[in-house]
Amino acid sequence: MKTSVIRLDNSYSVGIESIDEQHKQLISMCNNLYLNCCKKDDISRDFFRQGVASLVSFMRYHLFVEEQLLSRIAFPEFHDHKEEHRKAVEYVNGCLVYLDTGEEARFKKSIPKIRDCILRHITVSDRKYANYIHAMNRYAPWHIKDTYLPVELFLG
Ligand SMILES: [Fe+2]
Ligand SMILES: [Fe+2]
Repeated sequence: MKTSVIRLDNSYSVGIESIDEQHKQLISMCNNLYLNCCKKDDISRDFFRQGVASLVSFMRYHLFVEEQLLSRIAFPEFHDHKEEHRKAVEYVNGCLVYLDTGEEARFKKSIPKIRDCILRHITVSDRKYANYIHAMNRYAPWHIKDTYLPVELFLG
């Protein structure tokens, strides 16, 4: 398996510092799992189980923060976005089944897919709300009302 590490540069920025930091953290967790699954048998099942469990709990935190934000700014595609979040968590969690059934090879193959799924969400789906915030702040700040102030203030 080829080793490669994905880095989130500024072109992936959604323009909200705390969210960008969380995205970097998610990708870094995926990279760690990815790098370790290149090593063959010396990595235990527990290592992966723990790695995926930590990833899922950080995903839940991040997605919750994002949903709070999208709800507050009345993002028109809020429900679709939330559904994508639900499916992403379900997908990542679902990969743990392979560990329970002893299908480690299948589990390891799922690691790059997990990373792709998260990366795609950040670069495509999250980009949509970033563009929305940008446009509203620029052309209709009254629409976002309070969020015309720095969005950071509303993330607590
Ligand atoms: Fe996100
Ligand atoms: Fe999202």
